[in-house]
Amino acid sequence: MIKNMTKKNKKVYVAMSADLLHHGHINILAYAASLGDVVVGLLTDKAIATYKRLPFLTYDQRHQVMENMKGVVRIIPQDTMDYDENLRKEKPDFVIHGDDWKTGIQKPFRDKALKIIKEWGGELIELPYTNDVSSSLIDQQIKSIGTTPNTRMQVLRRLLDVRPLLRGLEVHNGISGLIAENAFHEDLNGRHEFDFVWSSSLTDSTSKGKPDIEAVDMTSRLSGVNDIFEVTTKPMIFDADTGGKPEHFVFSVKSLERIGVSAVIIEDKIGLKKNSLFGNEVKQEQDDPRQFAEKIKMGKQAQVTDDFMIISRIESLILEKPLSDALERAEIYADAGVDSIMIHSKEKEPDEILEFCKEYDRLKIDLPLVVVPTSYNSVTEKTLEDHGVNIVIYANHMLRAAYPAMLNTAHSILENKRSKEAEKYCMPIKEILELVPGTK
Ligand code: SPV
Ligand code: MG
Repeated sequence: MIKNMTKKNKKVYVAMSADLLHHGHINILAYAASLGDVVVGLLTDKAIATYKRLPFLTYDQRHQVMENMKGVVRIIPQDTMDYDENLRKEKPDFVIHGDDWKTGIQKPFRDKALKIIKEWGGELIELPYTNDVSSSLIDQQIKSIGTTPNTRMQVLRRLLDVRPLLRGLEVHNGISGLIAENAFHEDLNGRHEFDFVWSSSLTDSTSKGKPDIEAVDMTSRLSGVNDIFEVTTKPMIFDADTGGKPEHFVFSVKSLERIGVSAVIIEDKIGLKKNSLFGNEVKQEQDDPRQFAEKIKMGKQAQVTDDFMIISRIESLILEKPLSDALERAEIYADAGVDSIMIHSKEKEPDEILEFCKEYDRLKIDLPLVVVPTSYNSVTEKTLEDHGVNIVIYANHMLRAAYPAMLNTAHSILENKRSKEAEKYCMPIKEILELVPGTK
């Protein structure tokens, strides 16, 4: 929406995310408007997602909010954290920003912007940051409200649109879900979190003391998903093993989509499913690719929204078939309408996966590529990203980490006939009492 330019012809540029607005933002806008016509550089999802979490509101929703802000004359997208392009295009007389960007990850962008606006005699005005509002507290409060199935489901596609590489962590119950939801690491490149959670057939089965052979039925798996969804807001990719019979898979698709799972992965195996990391140590049989393609088609027809994704997992390398077999299957599954391809490997080194990535790129299939670097764990996210991988799944680490601590604790109590020595394997009581909100 373009409003008439007001009396003053000074141009004021303000870049904003406009996701969680509070009086600090209003103060900045009001001050900007007192200086002239306010042009808002509305940060796109892509710009925001390069240094922190995806905004709660979509770009269009945030645009609508800003259109109705007093004093805002024009809104343009700002697609990077870098101000260069928009500043050179707009040549504003003033740029307004909170003074919080003088330090931390935004500092390089500030320094650059300052230099550029001097080219035409513009001025940078930095207003004191509103200290009485904590965005992380607002974030926390919004998370505690929860989400809806639809909103949660859509986040995976939104993230794929704006980030080159997404990372997900295996979860098998509420508590591991909470870890994946809240864990973060901050460094000079910003805040790093897990983008989604992975419901693994291996750890779901193992945590129930059952083998990973599709023995845990869908009702039980879905009940686990529900436990996780009760306490998290992040999207989920669900491991549906082989998907079962095509006629049964359509019901799984509908159930998963209805509760807000974003994507299901099915592997192209038939018969009694065994875990892929066994390779040819156990009897495993790959499905005929055309038959598997039919299952994909039936699944795609069964889903209700356009948001839900079906991901086909190629097991050729697991079964020591040539790369060409894996690539042919990728083309057949893509033709069947699958939304993304997962390639799996049980090798210790990433070579065959990286080789597949190169050839896959040449096929120009253009569907997101998923990998699960469990055995080839030395490979970095950066290397995978450079090879065109879009989704990395850390598929079993939460359960594998918990088990040794539980085992050591049990043995220690038996050995010492008391629990004092086992404390080193345990979190402090005070910590567990404070871990889950509402326990006190
Ligand atoms: C799972 O996590 O259950 C998987 C990945 O399917 S793998 O165990 O590597 O087969
Ligand atoms: Mg599995």
